[in-house]
Amino acid sequence: MAQNRISYPAGGRGWDDLKQDMIARTAEDIDWRGGRTPLYVFFYDQDTYEIGRKAYFEFFSENALGQKRAFKSIQSMEREVLDYGMDLFNAPDSGAGAFTTGGSESIFVAMKSARDAYRARTGTPRGEILNIVMPDSAHPAFDKAAAAMDLDILRAPLRADLRVDTAALKGLINERTIAIVGSAPCFPHGVVDPIEELSKIALEAGVWLHVDACVGGWLAPFFTRIGRDTPDFDFRFPGVRSLSADLHKFGFCPKSASTVFFRDGADLERSRFRHDAWPSGVIDTATLTGTRTGGSVASAWAVLNHLGEAGYFEAARRLSTMTDAYVEGICAIDGLKMHSIPDLTLINFGSDVFDIYLVAEQMTARGWLAGLTSRPKGMHAMMSMLHDPSRPQFLSDLHDSVEAVRAGGQAASQLKAVY
Ligand SMILES: Cc1ncc(COP(=O)(O)O)c(C=O)c1O
Repeated sequence: MAQNRISYPAGGRGWDDLKQDMIARTAEDIDWRGGRTPLYVFFYDQDTYEIGRKAYFEFFSENALGQKRAFKSIQSMEREVLDYGMDLFNAPDSGAGAFTTGGSESIFVAMKSARDAYRARTGTPRGEILNIVMPDSAHPAFDKAAAAMDLDILRAPLRADLRVDTAALKGLINERTIAIVGSAPCFPHGVVDPIEELSKIALEAGVWLHVDACVGGWLAPFFTRIGRDTPDFDFRFPGVRSLSADLHKFGFCPKSASTVFFRDGADLERSRFRHDAWPSGVIDTATLTGTRTGGSVASAWAVLNHLGEAGYFEAARRLSTMTDAYVEGICAIDGLKMHSIPDLTLINFGSDVFDIYLVAEQMTARGWLAGLTSRPKGMHAMMSMLHDPSRPQFLSDLHDSVEAVRAGGQAASQLKAVY
């Protein structure tokens, strides 16, 4: 037996014992319910949380892989969720979408289709190294997809407002570019890239444009509709060929749930895997996974039907009011400044006066998990309604942390940005 390995359980433990053990293990977890994690967890209200939870467990044994043959329930709910998305993102009648387990999978599926579309158009054989051109702020899910498919990544610099410099991005496109990318919004700085400009570039250059709306896609259109400055980013721009949007983030649906949409259903077919060269007959999947829980589909369907347009409008109102209050509170602290004006609820702030990582160390000591960015050096938070009740404490601790840093005496910070 390896020295540090835990031995295989003897079995026979009952629920009360297991539950107690599991709960004991949360002792050192960050208090996410108290709003102390700036990422990983999303919450709107208790009713929505409960509906998602109940719907999930109603269908958690059903397998979405078997929806065509065994689970018409899952098939109909998945189809409806995808239709809601195509409605929200203004996909044309030719559009199609797929339900995936998360943003990384949605992005993989879109990039696989883009690669295969490029190969079909140009006749490029396997083995030629192709590339994706994207903003410096785009999510590493693209790098992961590129690593798996042997693609290069070319990163374009950002403008002063932290949206991609479209002229620089255009300059990186070459004859081996399978796709360009814009985020709506990007994770590090919370701003939407100039999708209208990217759409024009895509059409002129004849390249695929993917909009990564993973983090905020299911909510951002409601921010725009209540009169915020949040820009449009969807299929209304004719160069947008695919779009990813996660249900398990600002859709407030249980994990693991995301969606990927295509302007033309034929592009979804490029990612489809059909296989018949084994003894058990045809296997046919549109995404990377085989077995996946029906719980994710059922809970997304239930949450979307529970909240509906009215609910997401209200969420946009409440979340934007909360974000404004955070921005106001942060800017009121001497020495702090916002790095960008948030298009949704993702904020990033820093300082020209002191090292913001020293402030992050102080906040960590006060029980907050610090979100950090390296370019520019900033403190980052992706806020849902969990962060509303914790705002006064956060701002008061932030104020005290800044005071402590201004008083001096700290050694240089050893912190590094970790996602
Ligand atoms: C903009 C953006 N794209 C993609 C992803 C990847 O999503 P996931 O973690 O669900 O794979 C994230 C995650 O935060 C994101 O913020």
